[in-house]
Amino acid sequence: MHETPALQVKAMSKTYRERRRPGVRAVDNVSFSVKQNEVVGLLGPNGAGKTTIIKCILGLMQPDSGEISVLGQDVQANYPRVLRNMSAVLEGSRNLYWRLTVWENILFFAGLNGVSPRENHDYFQYLIQRFSLEDQKDVQLRKLSQGMKQKAALICALARRTPVVFLDEPTLGLDVETSIELRRILKQLAQQENRTIVVSSHDMDVIQDICQRVIILSSGRIIVDDQVSHLMKLFDTRSYRIALDGSIPEGLEEALTSHFTSVNLAANETGVELTIDLPERDDIYLLMDMLRNTGAVIDHISHADIDLERVFLEVVRRERDNDESRQFGHSL
Ligand SMILES: Nc1ncnc2c1ncn2[C@@H]1O[C@H](COP(=O)(O)OP(=O)(O)OP(=O)(O)O)[C@@H](O)[C@H]1O
Ligand SMILES: [Mg+2]
Repeated sequence: MHETPALQVKAMSKTYRERRRPGVRAVDNVSFSVKQNEVVGLLGPNGAGKTTIIKCILGLMQPDSGEISVLGQDVQANYPRVLRNMSAVLEGSRNLYWRLTVWENILFFAGLNGVSPRENHDYFQYLIQRFSLEDQKDVQLRKLSQGMKQKAALICALARRTPVVFLDEPTLGLDVETSIELRRILKQLAQQENRTIVVSSHDMDVIQDICQRVIILSSGRIIVDDQVSHLMKLFDTRSYRIALDGSIPEGLEEALTSHFTSVNLAANETGVELTIDLPERDDIYLLMDMLRNTGAVIDHISHADIDLERVFLEVVRRERDNDESRQFGHSL
């Protein structure tokens, strides 16, 4: 049997229109679906359309076209009932009541979902303790630091116990310790409470740590939608960093660039640093021969591990190159 997807977005587009100016096409024909219990990362440079997508799914704004359903329910047709299935922390955690205390906010937002305070008292306490907000429990939101407000917003969203959770930049303003704790909590939520989580972040460590899958956006379009493990394999070039003693040996640069495309050779105070991508397994022998033949003295060699940040930068770079060549093509 086919399980109902937690989230389904079909051909969604959104243009922000302003008087006397051409509109900004923030989301351009985006389609994706998220399985129940999946943890998906939304990535993309500033302005890529992440927040707009999340706001449209939550019904906070209307897309110009496209269909959105959450757990099989069309968002527009079932609004606002469909909100019972999703909670969100948006950028800047502005959706809390600043004159209520942390605890009152929790009761209020959980109450919206019919989550009873009596039955869930322990769960609320547990969340407060996980985010180390015990001392601020009875303090008004407006008196908290930015990071504490963010923690409170996260607690309020999780306290609603919705099956689908959206987190837009959840680690913004959190200290290192809390950011690591949040990752643990999110992993647990997916594993033990069977929640579906869609999270946007510019912190690749967070995404790499908690997401099985990432959707990378650029200029409102999806440019990659893939499993993190698969992307890592795809982009795992053999990349090496080699430190040489002395100055750049004569003929080395010519030799390297005649065979390899990704070469960076730079002299510094302590010697020379060479970073190079080796496409083939045997290239390491060729490289060693070139170094020996030009009299290079190797100080040390290290292998640069692939991580999501490098994958992301490479994907976005390729997309920009494509875009530029497309534009150039059009102008001919
Ligand atoms: N209220 C608005 N009015 C007009 N344009 C907007 C509005 N909100 C966003 N935009 C534009 O839509 C595009 C997408 O913005 P969005 O906030 O969705 O990006 P984002 O991926 O969340 O970026 P960031 O990483 O900076 O949070 C941008 O070009 C932005 O300038
Ligand atoms: Mg955003």
